[in-house]
Amino acid sequence: MTTLSNKTAIVTGASSGIGKAIAKNLADEGANVVLAARRSEKLKELAEEVHSEYGVQTNVIETDVTKREEMENLVQQTVEQFGSIDIFVNNAGVMLLSFLKNDHVDEWEQMVDVNIKGVLFGIHAALPEMLKQETGHIINVSSVAGHEVFPSSTVYSATKYAVRALSMGMEKELSNSGVRVTNVSPGAVDTELTDHITDGEVLDMFKDRKMEPLEAEDIARSVTYAVTQPSYVNVNEVIVRPMHKR
Ligand SMILES: NC(=O)c1ccc[n+]([C@@H]2O[C@H](COP(=O)([O-])OP(=O)(O)OC[C@H]3O[C@@H](n4cnc5c(N)ncnc54)[C@H](OP(=O)(O)O)[C@@H]3O)[C@@H](O)[C@H]2O)c1
Repeated sequence: MTTLSNKTAIVTGASSGIGKAIAKNLADEGANVVLAARRSEKLKELAEEVHSEYGVQTNVIETDVTKREEMENLVQQTVEQFGSIDIFVNNAGVMLLSFLKNDHVDEWEQMVDVNIKGVLFGIHAALPEMLKQETGHIINVSSVAGHEVFPSSTVYSATKYAVRALSMGMEKELSNSGVRVTNVSPGAVDTELTDHITDGEVLDMFKDRKMEPLEAEDIARSVTYAVTQPSYVNVNEVIVRPMHKR
């Protein structure tokens, strides 16, 4: 295993849940972390916590991943401050589950914008720099819903299948470039993700569902595992599901 001292990681969607846990875990391994999301107050709190706990350098860059120029700025500022960008975690995402018949078209559009276009803008912003460096690691956070489709996950799954297709193409196109790619597919994790669902039928369906989700930290460890392997090891796909209770 390699250490992440003197490496720099950008994490999108670092203001809560899985992104926050990934940023902390990478900092614990010695990486300087650049925290991106829209809620900058939450990012500032995390930056202070990470700096005092792990002694690494941090930066907070308020970023909406659906804005191409904001993603370009995120990478530019990071390279100016740290000299390189070693890890880019495309984690920001929304899961606005709904049944197609209920026609939540604005939410479909939001999921396409954040989950697909946001990831593409991340690749657009980070990849040229990594190709120039001839080294780097891009993590794309997909989902178990990027491997299977459930009633009400149809559009969300479509966006997460797209993320997985991007990761698969990157793996093939970039295999001689020094840039590694890991597609991470979490199962259910206890975060704010479901708080934004508005379809009453989906909310009713969830009321009766009993399952013990994973913690965000459980996913963060898999990201740290992938980025701390020797440079010739390309961990392309990680699926992490909760065990069912006996
Ligand atoms: N929780 C699960 O069960 C689960 C399972 C599989 C996959 N995932 C995936 O894991 C990733 C993280 O989700 P989570 O579970 O940690 O949910 P979460 O706690 O709701 O976090 C989502 C993050 O995305 C950010 N975000 C949303 N829209 C954004 C935008 N336009 N620009 C920038 N940031 C934006 C949010 O930050 P701001 O609101 O501050 O911008 C927040 O930090 C997502 O891609 C999700 O699809 C989650």
